[in-house]
Amino acid sequence: MNTPNINILTPLLFLLPILLTLSLYLLFKYLKKKENKVQEQKSQIAFMAETFQELLSKLKEKERELEALKKRAEERAEDVESYSENIIQSVPSGVVSFDNDLRITKVNSAAAELLKISPEEMIGKSYKEVFNPPLKALLEERKPVQRAEYQYKNHAGQDLYLGLTLSVLYNRMKEPIGFVLVFTDLTELKTLEKQIRLREWLSSLGEVSLGIAHELRNPMAVISGYAKMLSKKANGLPEIEAIMKEVRLMDRIIQDFLSFARPIEPNITEIDLKELIDSILSQLLQNRSDIKLSFLSEQCIINSDEVLLKQALTNLVLNAIEAMPQGGTLSVTVSCYDTTDTLKIQIKDTGVGIPDGAREKIFMPFYTTKETGTGLGLSVVHKNITLLGGTVNFESDKTGTSFVISLPL
Ligand SMILES: Nc1ncnc2c1ncn2[C@@H]1O[C@H](COP(=O)(O)OP(=O)(O)OP(=O)(O)O)[C@@H](O)[C@H]1O
Ligand SMILES: [Mg+2]
Repeated sequence: MNTPNINILTPLLFLLPILLTLSLYLLFKYLKKKENKVQEQKSQIAFMAETFQELLSKLKEKERELEALKKRAEERAEDVESYSENIIQSVPSGVVSFDNDLRITKVNSAAAELLKISPEEMIGKSYKEVFNPPLKALLEERKPVQRAEYQYKNHAGQDLYLGLTLSVLYNRMKEPIGFVLVFTDLTELKTLEKQIRLREWLSSLGEVSLGIAHELRNPMAVISGYAKMLSKKANGLPEIEAIMKEVRLMDRIIQDFLSFARPIEPNITEIDLKELIDSILSQLLQNRSDIKLSFLSEQCIINSDEVLLKQALTNLVLNAIEAMPQGGTLSVTVSCYDTTDTLKIQIKDTGVGIPDGAREKIFMPFYTTKETGTGLGLSVVHKNITLLGGTVNFESDKTGTSFVISLPL
């Protein structure tokens, strides 16, 4: 009964180890394959990590290079900027730049000096707060201007003559980013020009009128002679006295004019200037106790023409006294030994001042605002001081007038 069973089991017993071995082999193969795959994945990750590390260090190197390049570029930009800044600060012309809203972005030292405002007070401010008319109006228009000339009163109240250019400021892309105003002080040049013109005009006028004035003296002498005869006959008739008074006045005018127009050669001698001014002042202030005098002078011995100088100083002091009919202060200051080798004499009054409209004319012969004036006083001052190689300048406002004579020592 058991035999057939044994027969079935025999091949099974024989096959079992084979099957076991085969399945073990397959399992081993599977595991090996899996391990290989993991190994492969591991080495791939390692490779990637290595490559990444390499890239990172290359990037770091490039970053360092870039940093160095950037630093060099910054240094160069700084160099260029400080170079242009140095140029702008060193030019004698005033330079002010504005942004598109006309706010001040840059100012050089010449501009600050001419406008009499510090750069700190200007930067960031609107043009309206910094500039007076007519430059305020010019900027307001935003219209470029080339080589225009303007009269300008700066913040210290000085009257300047400015030559200026207003241009649009562009960036590298040629886009407008504001304006730049460049200006030069032409005041001295203009004063010199004016003096030269006046001198030429006066000398040609002098030549022509000298002859006429001279010719007028003969008929006047005749009129004066007849008037005297008539006066004797009519026994002091007031009308004849009036004629004689007018003739005397005409004679004085002609005398003044002749001495003004006649060519003169200066006669240079040694003069004690302090003494000379002292004598002029005491003579002219004799009857004016309402005028307070302040006379400041060091001992000052100069070589000059005493007559010409005395005439000039007398006229200036007379004008100052006449400008103070209600009294005031007359200040005369002499600075003789300053470093500029120029003698300066200032004659200052607290009088009525010279109105704006008269400023251009006061040195012209016969310009006068006084009832009994001949208008020759300042022409004589100008002529004499020019002959002595000097200049006459003045400043005047409602509080008074100051004339300054400058003479080379
Ligand atoms: N110190 C001053 N203050 C105010 N105005 C002045 C002063 N000096 C001169 N002027 C003005 O200038 C004008 C011309 O002066 P200038 O001395 O040439 O003539 P004048 O004084 O009028 O006459 P003259 O000197 O011949 O008697 C004066 O009439 C006056 O208007
Ligand atoms: Mg006068």
